[in-house]
Amino acid sequence: MCGIVGYIGNRQAAPILLEGLSKLEYRGYDSAGIAVYNGERIDMVKSKGRLKVLSELTHDGEKLPGTVGIGHTRWATHGSPSDKNAHPHFNKEGSIVVVHNGIIENYLKLKKKLQKKGYEFVSDTDTEVIAHLLDYYYTGNPLQAITKIMHRMEGSYALGIIFKAHPDQLFAVRKDSPLIVGHTDGGNIIASDVPAVLKHTREVYFIENEEIVQMTENTMEFFNVDEEPIEKESVRIEWDVNAAEKGGYEHFMLKEMYEQPKAITDTFSPRVKDGRIVIDELNMSDEEIKAVKKIMIVACGSAYHTGVTSKYVFEGLARIPVEVDLASEFRYRNPILEEGTMVIVISQSGETADTLAALRESKKQGARVLGIVNVVGSSIAREADNVMYTWAGPEIAVATTKAYSAHLIALYLLAMKFAYTKGCIDDSDLADMLEDLKALPAQVEMLLNNKERIQKFANRYLAAKDIFFIGRGIDYAISLEGSLKLKEVSYIHSEAYAAGELKHGTISLVEEGTLVVSVLTQKDLFKKMISNMVEVQTRGAFVMAVTMEGNTEAERAADYVIYIPETNKYFTNSLAIIPLQLLGYYVAVGRGCDVDKPRNLAKSVTVE
Ligand code: AGP
Repeated sequence: MCGIVGYIGNRQAAPILLEGLSKLEYRGYDSAGIAVYNGERIDMVKSKGRLKVLSELTHDGEKLPGTVGIGHTRWATHGSPSDKNAHPHFNKEGSIVVVHNGIIENYLKLKKKLQKKGYEFVSDTDTEVIAHLLDYYYTGNPLQAITKIMHRMEGSYALGIIFKAHPDQLFAVRKDSPLIVGHTDGGNIIASDVPAVLKHTREVYFIENEEIVQMTENTMEFFNVDEEPIEKESVRIEWDVNAAEKGGYEHFMLKEMYEQPKAITDTFSPRVKDGRIVIDELNMSDEEIKAVKKIMIVACGSAYHTGVTSKYVFEGLARIPVEVDLASEFRYRNPILEEGTMVIVISQSGETADTLAALRESKKQGARVLGIVNVVGSSIAREADNVMYTWAGPEIAVATTKAYSAHLIALYLLAMKFAYTKGCIDDSDLADMLEDLKALPAQVEMLLNNKERIQKFANRYLAAKDIFFIGRGIDYAISLEGSLKLKEVSYIHSEAYAAGELKHGTISLVEEGTLVVSVLTQKDLFKKMISNMVEVQTRGAFVMAVTMEGNTEAERAADYVIYIPETNKYFTNSLAIIPLQLLGYYVAVGRGCDVDKPRNLAKSVTVE
């Protein structure tokens, strides 16, 4: 996510901004900038690249004198990483300057309206729209202009704003993106997150949705969206800086698991409008969608697993044949891509060498390539014919969780769009599925809050030699990911098997006490799965089942059952994976592994 910092007081602002931004680097970014007001002029310096570049350009802030300022580290969402897209952003006269963390979902509509009124844009960002919108509504009262744009903008935002006509004031606003403010010696400070302010104060105010803060050197006032003053209590932060970067969580992996509800919401909500799925970035007409005769999905690791899941969704909903392949295999097997084949490459980092090579091979053969990517402006995003971004925000832990969940959502949307366009599902089916989709974030949150139970169970298997995961159909795909999560962070050997394969060899590996995790979320396969569970249980296995609420039949063949809420049969992966992520995480924690940076692994495998 982007990071914002702001300061108003009796000290030079620039060094405070740069230091605060450095404490937000862990959030991931690709460009940075600061703007400082010296009472006459608002100076700004911004650039693509690391904060080091900004410090050099500003001589550690000396080149920007002034005691009011705002700063920003940008994680690109709308508009690729570049100097022009870096924040802060000005209105045309340079009399209003803004930094923003979040996504303005209706920015294109607002931008078109402003352009019709003569506003000109210099960047591709949604944030620049905010600067011009403030300009449009500003008639001398900053608070009024701010509340007016709040009524027009849809999406998420944490803003820092300076108005040239008000040199002794700094404003901050919040909706859905985090924002805190605090007093510091000789002034006041705003930031996206606690680490940026800890050097100055441990007493902070957490800004709630649709709250506005108006600050001077010595005062801090809070207002609601109706411009009514409100009272707020400060909170004392007891975290140390290291814990603060993880938002109080012990590891980034756990923090990012808890960010899954928001990653899911942020990935589907801009693409569901008035009961319809709108994927503008797909850039395919209905006729082109109907002309797709086959889908070839290529990826690595967890991204590959989302592809395996989506095979069942595409084929089940849209009746389009889907082949899923590992990128490292695809690129060297001289693949056959018949006429009418659409290739989808999936990648969190957008830099995975094998997946990039598979994309290039597909384009060489003339196939249309869609990228499903989390990092904006990454190589795969740039080279794909079209890119569908997941809005999970930067993922720091090597073991992917929130990006994996966001990829699944993107694939569900795509499959539903194809199915509806082809007439395989009707309005009523679509409405039901969208209702189930919108229920997922809260269901994921409920499952995450079940973590103590999983942690207790995990502690029984810290010394396990092997742990197996089994499933049929879409549950096999879930087993693949559950097994990978466990082994990559805990270093315990684990394999996932199609449950029907047990009798073809695997079952010989089952010994007394072997943990077998059985995923059964598909009603039509429950009976088959239960007989597979009995097979391993009678040979000594300890069976943990992950199944739908109400399927108490599973207790007949399982020693430990995790129930997940009812959802559409094609979406169960998004729920069943939560207890499996928690299992892998807590086994790793219990074994004292380096959870966020497992041995031998890299977050992005940019080499073969
Ligand atoms: C998943 O937890 C692993 N970190 C790994 O399998 C990862 O999914 C794989 O390397 C693909 O990475 P990408 O999504 O960035 O292409």
